[in-house]
Amino acid sequence: MKIGIIGAGQIGGTLTRRLTKLGYEVYVANSRGPGSLANLAKETGAKAAQVREAARAGEVVVVTIPEGKIRDLPKDLFAGVPKQTVIIDTGNYYPRQRDGKIADIEAGMTESRWVANQLGRPVVKTFNNIYAQHLLELGRPAGSPGRIALPIAGDDARAKEIVMRLVDELGFDAVDAGSLDESWRQQPGTPVYASDFDAEGVRRALAEASKARTPQFRATENSPGTFAQPA
Ligand SMILES: NC(=O)c1ccc[n+]([C@@H]2O[C@H](COP(=O)([O-])OP(=O)(O)OC[C@H]3O[C@@H](n4cnc5c(N)ncnc54)[C@H](OP(=O)(O)O)[C@@H]3O)[C@@H](O)[C@H]2O)c1
Repeated sequence: MKIGIIGAGQIGGTLTRRLTKLGYEVYVANSRGPGSLANLAKETGAKAAQVREAARAGEVVVVTIPEGKIRDLPKDLFAGVPKQTVIIDTGNYYPRQRDGKIADIEAGMTESRWVANQLGRPVVKTFNNIYAQHLLELGRPAGSPGRIALPIAGDDARAKEIVMRLVDELGFDAVDAGSLDESWRQQPGTPVYASDFDAEGVRRALAEASKARTPQFRATENSPGTFAQPA
């Protein structure tokens, strides 16, 4: 299977390393272009690609760039990409430190629903609640005691199933976390966020989550970009 990865930072770089080791043909892109990815390509055997090429490359495409930068992606990025292509969103909204204010999210839209709207395509949300380093190092074979589990949210059962298989191959249990509109249960500040629970723990944490955003993950008037954006 071919996989496109848009974003080659902590998560994109980690997925490039892990997925090429599993034998996937990976096309990885960043904002600066393929030349800047020569080392990663050499290390992993992945193909350094343009963003548009990565969007068209795979049966699965992972979008893993800072939330605030999603708006910088070409508006027609997925035009002509087959409907059955599965798009994974790993993103988290950090208004204070990084992303600035995104009004729809502040008003209660789930982060991944907002990303799906921006991309004009359905997404499956996963990999957002695990540290990149743990994604790199803590995968274990199925059945290992304490195997870390990852929540997977989305509206398309087939797409979710494909992502769940991928997560399992990477060494993590996959827990169905419901629809995209329920994906607030795995956003920053929730019990499952950065917790490395096993499957039972993830189910419990999702059930115990509260929908209100915690203050540290809400924009303030000092958040970067808050006044620079159109209302
Ligand atoms: N770090 C973690 O442990 C972690 C864990 C779970 C989820 N996440 C979430 O996953 C997302 C990615 O996080 P990260 O830590 O991997 O970010 P990161 O290390 O800062 O890397 C960001 C990547 O996005 C690329 N990028 C930015 N704007 C782009 C654009 N317009 N077109 C193409 N590529 C673009 C950057 O390319 P250039 O360098 O060329 O600009 C860079 O490769 C974030 O939403 C983050 O909150 C992170």
